Amino acid sequence: MFEEKTVLTGIKPTGTPHLGNLVGAIKPVIEMSNQAEKSYIFIADLHALNAVRDSKLIEKWSYEVAATFLALGLDTEKAVFFRQSDVPEIYKLTVFLLNVTSKGLMNRSHAYKAISAENEANDKSPDFGINMGLYTYPILMAADILLYNTDLVPVGQDQKQHVEMARDIAGSLNNIYGDEILVVPEPVIQKVASAIPGLDGRKMSKSYGNYVPIFAEQKKLKKSIMKIVTDSKRPEDPKDPDESTIYQLYQHFAPKAEADVMREQFVNGGLGYGDAKKMLFEMIDSTLAKPREKYYELLANPEQIEDVLLSGAKRARIVAKETVDRVSKAMLGRVV
Ligand code: TRP
Repeated sequence: MFEEKTVLTGIKPTGTPHLGNLVGAIKPVIEMSNQAEKSYIFIADLHALNAVRDSKLIEKWSYEVAATFLALGLDTEKAVFFRQSDVPEIYKLTVFLLNVTSKGLMNRSHAYKAISAENEANDKSPDFGINMGLYTYPILMAADILLYNTDLVPVGQDQKQHVEMARDIAGSLNNIYGDEILVVPEPVIQKVASAIPGLDGRKMSKSYGNYVPIFAEQKKLKKSIMKIVTDSKRPEDPKDPDESTIYQLYQHFAPKAEADVMREQFVNGGLGYGDAKKMLFEMIDSTLAKPREKYYELLANPEQIEDVLLSGAKRARIVAKETVDRVSKAMLGRVV
């Protein structure tokens, strides 16, 4: 479905990438970029600013996200891979878009409304802790998408509304200034995104502290996996694979035939949780051993990561500038 299309996606650097990110976002993004006619993949460091108040952390997590994609084999000749803040046109387009976006649209944002509602439930002012970066997050995200004439935006369900807002904002600008100025994008919803369980069986998430970093050192990886919470079924008891964190993770890493074997052993009984965890550890460890080496090598040489990101930004800016020029001409009558 991505052939002949321009696809774009951004990844917020707000933590060390974990196995849930790998299966739900990073792998599908790499596959998508292999299929697409043109793809833009960027590290959304400006989007992290509304929550992360430590520049060192933004830098660290940006490098970790970048190194993860590179270690896992993203083709950076084909994909345009860059860091959001390295394309100054984003600041210009954001200011232009602010003026065609109604406040009412922002008021309807699920992300913002959830925080307001939580504030009220805690007897706080509804605006408590909400900065304008958070409130106008969808406008910056619309600028990301619209800057590159994006057709399709693959995202998890939680980001669907943001892409719809980008459509609304593009529509509004085109309506006022002329139909052909901005390409109106469409979301493509990725299904697996929320299906990865963490060590405690809840969704794997940084905020639950139940995650396994993609490139955890071998010993740590083993320790984490051995900590997966299970029930008290004995080895010979039948177990439901679809309720088991071990099997759920295993099936994402094992070749299908091997996943089927474990599935059967769960259903029929005969495989204890301890042995299943060992199989899971070995599968993840062997799959990620090579990329793990590359990952640590890149992190030890951040100038190599910078090189890749800056040459990506250079390519991104060519299209970004054309878009901003079009918008600026329409709104101010001249190119700024
Ligand atoms: N908001 C997205 C997230 O939280 C990250 C993001 C920023 C993004 N800009 C984007 C995703 C543009 C897709 C397109 O995950």
